[in-house]
Amino acid sequence: MMEFKTLGQFIIEKQEEFPFAKGELSRLLRDIGIAAKVVNREVNKAGLAEILGPYGQFNVQGEEQQKLDVLADKEFISALKRGGECCYIASEEHEEGLDLSSEGKYIVCIDPLDGSSNIDVNISIGTIFSIYRRKSSSGRVSEEDVLQQGVHQVAAGYVLYGSSTMLVYTTGHGVNGFTLDPSIGEFCLSHPMMRIPENGNTYSINQGNFINFPPAIKEYVKMCQEENLESGRPYSLRYIGSLVADLHRTILKGGIFMYPESVRHRKGKLRLMYECNPMAFILEQAGGRASTGKERILEIQPDELHQRTPLVIGSSAMVLVVEKLYADIGKIAQST
Ligand code: AHG
Ligand code: MN
Ligand code: MN
Repeated sequence: MMEFKTLGQFIIEKQEEFPFAKGELSRLLRDIGIAAKVVNREVNKAGLAEILGPYGQFNVQGEEQQKLDVLADKEFISALKRGGECCYIASEEHEEGLDLSSEGKYIVCIDPLDGSSNIDVNISIGTIFSIYRRKSSSGRVSEEDVLQQGVHQVAAGYVLYGSSTMLVYTTGHGVNGFTLDPSIGEFCLSHPMMRIPENGNTYSINQGNFINFPPAIKEYVKMCQEENLESGRPYSLRYIGSLVADLHRTILKGGIFMYPESVRHRKGKLRLMYECNPMAFILEQAGGRASTGKERILEIQPDELHQRTPLVIGSSAMVLVVEKLYADIGKIAQST
């Protein structure tokens, strides 16, 4: 008889760790788990059920929405609406946030489908979510309720629709991973207390943008490619193009992921509220580090919902090398 612990059992078991332990956050995480199972069902039949390809509209990012983007967005919004614990949703797919005007105390920022460019080629994609407690006690959700620094997240997580489907989340007490067992339709604890190795020998970046990288990143990429057997270099380059998949590998194996600012993406491509903050919370809780190269991601004060930020994230020893390069090059620039 296989011993396993379902997500639901685990959440209830850990309930007393939540500062506002009245079961609300537990129910919110349960709602997200339910939506993840529905989206997983659609992802798994994507090739058959005519839900591949473009939806024929563009989102606030100016990116062409894929059918699965829209389906995942609808699924998570209706699960959160039904659950009643969430009062406001900020989604990548909607320019304005959705005020659910419920009595719920939680705000959810979500990337319903991360890695959309990989949907049609059957490469792993994901969902990323970030949860805050509203600051105001009731009434209309304010901008101050929503645009909170990442350090104020009460929970964050991701779903990875890969060779197996996993849900990984933290509430600030470590990171735990659950694998969906299709035979019982439950997420079961498979990766308790995930920790990222302090160092790694993989770097993950879209090398195609090399010409436009900031000097510090160019310098670091060259270091990754140098022959230095003592430090395990040259490192391997791994880049899937789905943030969730690249970071899940990074947590399990160690390594560094970078999406720096460039000419095309002056503030970086990745969005602070529903990609970088949740992933930074998770990586820090797993013992890693996450910054822009100059500033801790979780301390950035957001000033708009879809703002972007450069991201350097992964094994702490590797991120620190990049931050030192930014600092040293910054000093040289100041002294000339
Ligand atoms: P999304 O599909 O939600 O827009 O996210 C895509 C992001 C992220 O998943 C990935 O790391 C990055 O875009 C890849 O960007 P490039 O294709 O520019 O490398
Ligand atoms: Mn994304
Ligand atoms: Mn997306």
